[in-house]
Amino acid sequence: MTEPLYLGKLAVLYEGQGDADDFKRLAERLGVPLRVTSEPNFDQLESFYLTWRDGVLKLLDRELLKKGGLAVDIEPRPGEQRSWPAPKNTPLGQALGRKTQTVVDATTGWGQDSLHIFRMGYSLRCIERSPVMVELLQDAFRRLGELEWVKNLSLELPELIAGNAIETLAGLDEHPDCIYIDPMFPPKRKKSALAKKSMTILQELLGDDPDKDELFSAAMQSAAKKVVVKSPDYAEPLGGKPSQSFQGKLLRYDVYVKN
Ligand SMILES: C[S@@+](CC[C@H](N)C(=O)[O-])C[C@H]1O[C@@H](n2cnc3c(N)ncnc32)[C@H](O)[C@@H]1O
Repeated sequence: MTEPLYLGKLAVLYEGQGDADDFKRLAERLGVPLRVTSEPNFDQLESFYLTWRDGVLKLLDRELLKKGGLAVDIEPRPGEQRSWPAPKNTPLGQALGRKTQTVVDATTGWGQDSLHIFRMGYSLRCIERSPVMVELLQDAFRRLGELEWVKNLSLELPELIAGNAIETLAGLDEHPDCIYIDPMFPPKRKKSALAKKSMTILQELLGDDPDKDELFSAAMQSAAKKVVVKSPDYAEPLGGKPSQSFQGKLLRYDVYVKN
């Protein structure tokens, strides 16, 4: 049965390369159809696809069908120091803080913040509720584990937990020092030229996260020391006045310290 979330929107695409059974199993796990581009009316069917290209799991829309595709990027961000642990002098690092050791990213998405948190040397668990993003993240963490520097340093990979963080956080065996949340906010304008393709595609596929307030309360309950919320700079702070705020490019990291 197709997941209601993806009904008529998403298919797994087999382009004739790789083991067809892997594609079939992926389609079954997600409850979406398996397609080939040559099938009748292909143009009028789903508008998003998951497929392996060059051994990497990718999400495509119709624009990306001809080339490319979006995968979770496991490389350091431009300008990020390529050492381990990377310095904590970025706005995200400052918001998490030097005394923090354990972090749960409750809204992992494309994993870009999680991977930055991992590279800064925090011990990390990642929660994601979208089954599509979970598949993309699993593929990324497999690739991460194969990187020479990760193997040489015998680093423990982030643990990925599939599910809604509002429930998952309450059942964690250990309270993390910090819980990080970056839910989807409605864009300020209909189409922002600055919005990255990866984020617009996520917005189109999954929509907003209307239960952000509930997620914030669950995070405040479960964090041992603090909650950090990433917000676009036009959005009101999710939990009222924060204890501290760190400014990034067009965004803020609001820190809520527990008393
Ligand atoms: C804006 S994206 C996060 C982007 C991420 N920080 C990054 O660097 O790529 C929000 C993600 O959080 C997930 N999400 C939102 N609310 C959630 C919840 N309550 N539990 C688990 N995942 C959630 C959404 O499915 C989406 O993938």
